[in-house]
Amino acid sequence: MGNYNFDAIIDRRGTDCLKWDSNGSPDIHPMWVADMDFAVAPQIQKAMEKRLSNPVYGYTFHGEGLINSIVSWVGRRYGWEISGEWLAFSPGVVPALSMSILALTNPGDRVLIMTPVYRPFYNSIRENGRVIIDNPLLKDENGRYSIDFDLLESQIDSRCKVMMMCNPHNPAGRVWTLEELQRLADIAKRHDLIVISDEIHADFIYSGHKHISIASLSEDMMQRTITAYAPSKTFNLAGLCQSYVVIPNKRLRDAFMGVYDALDLGSNIFGMTALTAAYNEAEDWLDELLSYLEANRDYAVNYIRENIPQIKVYPPDGTYLLWLDCSALGLEKEDLNRFFLEQAHVRMNAGYRFADRCGSFMRLNIGCPRSMLTEGLERIRTAVSNSKI
Ligand SMILES: Cc1ncc(COP(=O)(O)O)c(C=O)c1O
Repeated sequence: MGNYNFDAIIDRRGTDCLKWDSNGSPDIHPMWVADMDFAVAPQIQKAMEKRLSNPVYGYTFHGEGLINSIVSWVGRRYGWEISGEWLAFSPGVVPALSMSILALTNPGDRVLIMTPVYRPFYNSIRENGRVIIDNPLLKDENGRYSIDFDLLESQIDSRCKVMMMCNPHNPAGRVWTLEELQRLADIAKRHDLIVISDEIHADFIYSGHKHISIASLSEDMMQRTITAYAPSKTFNLAGLCQSYVVIPNKRLRDAFMGVYDALDLGSNIFGMTALTAAYNEAEDWLDELLSYLEANRDYAVNYIRENIPQIKVYPPDGTYLLWLDCSALGLEKEDLNRFFLEQAHVRMNAGYRFADRCGSFMRLNIGCPRSMLTEGLERIRTAVSNSKI
């Protein structure tokens, strides 16, 4: 028995909770958006209560305690010694991706992404008037993804300024290896690309894998990379809108700060309090959570393989997201999504949102108490077996 109870069920309904309150019907079992159903670490709650008890919630700034907690976390957890001066802040990783694009590219410039990938990657490029270069990941017969390096390099031209990465990769579940990252770093150097690396899932790494920040590979990579991290997935603090970026290169950092200052985003009292408590005091909670999630992953993969053979699943190296190949069901895109909503009463994320060609995939969130996971899997099994496929 550990110190924390990840089996506890917390009723989140009626709190304007995106995951539970926005599904149109209370019958829907939510296994979509990357948000976990666990209580926050008690160390974080205590720190928040302490801050709450001082009843003035005026302007704040990103102080030394916060910065030191981040520098220490990145060193301890990811093995990268950073300086506090390299830090900049953002209300979220997605806004940080957009600010980076705005700061470092011009309208019409091209940005390379590896797909399928988290939907806002597309938006941060397209909605800001830049052009996407779509590099499809390769998938082997077991469903494991890898990078098509030759294609990727052939897609880079003089208008391609940025490679935007996701590590660990959502939804492919890959934790990129040292060798893969080195090959990407070589390509970035050869073509003088800026790298924007979204590492928001960096703390969800399962046995046998290791998170490596691409910026930490060499001085050259440090100078060309913006890395975005956050405690929001790790400690389930997404509602507190607190993330940060590490930008060792002064020119890139100044450009980022130009956009940031223009937006005058300020700082968030409770986001800062929660981050500091999480990083300084709640590491043992995270280590226990990781064991729980790894058991959830193994349980869900075995359950699907044994009971829902129509759905193919490959165990992710990291993240609490399973990428399900539902092609045997013969449904695509919204029809597939509707099938799970209407027949299973389970909401997942539809695969085509991650890449147009992934219409027969769904993304399942396993970041919940085991009983909730079982409930969702049983609903899916019943719906699939009733559909006589
Ligand atoms: C790869 C990736 N980046 C960013 C985010 C969201 O980040 P934020 O809420 O900090 O904007 C998510 C959430 O699912 C994600 O999976």
